[in-house]
Amino acid sequence: TAPSVIVRREGVRAEYRRMEEMAVRSRPELFDFHGVSMVNYFTDNWEDVQKFKARPDDILIATYPKAGTTWVSQIVDLLYFGKTLPERKDSIPIHERVPFLETSFPGLPRGTELADSMTSSPRVIKTHFPVQFVPKSFWEQNSRVIYMARNAKDNAVSYFHFDRMNFVEPEPGDWPSFLQRFKKGDVVFGSWYDHVKNWWEKKEINSNILYMFYEDLAEDTDREINRICSFLGISPSKEERDYVRGQVDFNTMKNNRMANYSTISVMDFKISPFMRKGKVGDWKNHFTVAQNEDFDEDYQKNMANTTLHFKTEI
Ligand code: A3P
Repeated sequence: TAPSVIVRREGVRAEYRRMEEMAVRSRPELFDFHGVSMVNYFTDNWEDVQKFKARPDDILIATYPKAGTTWVSQIVDLLYFGKTLPERKDSIPIHERVPFLETSFPGLPRGTELADSMTSSPRVIKTHFPVQFVPKSFWEQNSRVIYMARNAKDNAVSYFHFDRMNFVEPEPGDWPSFLQRFKKGDVVFGSWYDHVKNWWEKKEINSNILYMFYEDLAEDTDREINRICSFLGISPSKEERDYVRGQVDFNTMKNNRMANYSTISVMDFKISPFMRKGKVGDWKNHFTVAQNEDFDEDYQKNMANTTLHFKTEI
């Protein structure tokens, strides 16, 4: 690695430490932004984000927070660079390999700057934006998009634990109050329902979007890696696919410092690790019977007007 890159990365890590000191003192406030609940870290750079210049070979990974973004990011990054740049996955954290488009944390390079400065090709870029916020150049350039959705209940549980340990998120409060806010969409990036449904509708009219489910990836990772490869038009050897498959196993990623977010100091893993459980159905350990009944009723109402169906009644 070039010395200038090392210096830059050290600088970035020092900034993360400064951010931690700031963030621990005050968590951000949620506010309405064009009809979606957001915090300043993802709206401050709005104008530059909207002007962002996508490239035709960019791959955008879009998710509602905690739907398995890091999992898909690691898969796609390794499919492209696992063989040609094997040291990449051991030396560069996932949030630098796959920039988070809309971020603007004080003192750190913004997501747009990181993406603009990338020389490797293709660029893999992450967003949690609802579909209507995505910069238009991604559509104009026909960039490919991989959207991953996760079932609402597990997604809510994972989000709750994330907000407990991540100081750049608003305070989650206790589980019952978080669940109420999740149902209403009063969490960062807004309503889970709007997110998964609107991306689904966009996918129905845009063949450059691959819509995936966390539960499918958990059920048969090889099959889903094959789907990703077909969608991206790449044909790695069986050996390469097996290698990627091994690298993205939950425990392997949990123990990989370049994938498990342990280099980010605004997260307190003593409260809850980033790679927490990686399970389908963990909601059963959190929802009471009454919470589950309420949730199901609300779910039926919200999902009545869509052709999107989450397969498993989990
Ligand atoms: P849990 O909190 O349920 O464990 P994101 O990357 O969008 O923030 O999502 C994080 C969630 O995906 C966490 O869920 C995390 O454990 C899970 N996850 C990350 N990598 C995974 C993997 N390789 N296999 C299964 N789950 C994974």
